[in-house]
Amino acid sequence: MEIEKNKVMLTGDRPTGALHLGHYVGSLLSRVEMQSKFDSYIMVADAQALTDNFSTPEKVRANVYEVVKDYIAVGIDPKKATIFVQSQVQELAELTFYYLNLVTISRLERNPTVKSELQQKEFGQSIPAGFLCYPVSQAADITAFKAEIIPVGEDQLPLIETCNEIVRKFNRIYRAEILLEAKASLSREARLIGIDGKQKASKSLGNAIMLCDEEDVVKEKVFSMFTDPNHIHVNDPGNVEVNVVFTYLDAFHDDRDEIDTLKQKYRKGGLGDKVIKSLLNDTLQKILFPIRERRKSITKNQIDEILIAGTEKSRAVAAVTLSQVKGVMGLSYW
Ligand code: TRP
Repeated sequence: MEIEKNKVMLTGDRPTGALHLGHYVGSLLSRVEMQSKFDSYIMVADAQALTDNFSTPEKVRANVYEVVKDYIAVGIDPKKATIFVQSQVQELAELTFYYLNLVTISRLERNPTVKSELQQKEFGQSIPAGFLCYPVSQAADITAFKAEIIPVGEDQLPLIETCNEIVRKFNRIYRAEILLEAKASLSREARLIGIDGKQKASKSLGNAIMLCDEEDVVKEKVFSMFTDPNHIHVNDPGNVEVNVVFTYLDAFHDDRDEIDTLKQKYRKGGLGDKVIKSLLNDTLQKILFPIRERRKSITKNQIDEILIAGTEKSRAVAAVTLSQVKGVMGLSYW
């Protein structure tokens, strides 16, 4: 990857729970790598989280701290990446207000990400307007920083598309070249499956290994992992494809050859689940130990300091974009 310090990278998370190994391989590791290569911003999207958690603001607030602890624990460095809280950058709300005129309700309803979330959440006829419009606020998040590189999962692609539609429309209508189109940067790793082997790992499904899980909890989760239900005796031939332990070894163990040899043995028969689970447990404990320790050593005060500094810097940047936007819209009067 080339170093392009003049290019802005921005990404973020809704603070609805602490982060887990799925986040680690899916997004956190690549952020750590990218933070030295771009002008980097990482946003804790508390306002967006409220669009579907409006009745539990205390949960969102508490998780702002959990998520930032996870960031620092995995190696996101506030000296390299600016970490900020969305609700504290009020310029974003103002930008959202103007962008709302540039999208139609039907376009938002047809956004595939929004559509599938609406189905999952069973709002029925009572869709909160804020939820339907969160892609517009996400466009504000991205454009406020003139971010061009957005590391996200595949599920976020339609949101980047909505953002770019807004950018093109804005620049066309107001004959300006202020806003930049953004590009998703998909991470290498696909989504991590849960320990039950059924769905992707998620805190709410209880099938994820959390970055803050204690040693015994990690072990318990590893030993309860779904393997091959037909691999009953050690000598039975086993399946490595729909086997969570091997999926995790592929994602977290750094010796490919060793895993390939184990897979061959498992397929043939003669390798017990206990052996591969122990290996995975050792592998994960090694990764999680320093993360857990660092996580424990961070104080709330330190997090507050990081967020205050990050938010202040972010506000200054967003304010410049907002004033340019209002300028070309004719909204600067005096
Ligand atoms: N929608 C993202 C998520 O659910 C969070 C987010 C909010 C975001 N604003 C963003 C991601 C801007 C990238 C860029 O994870």
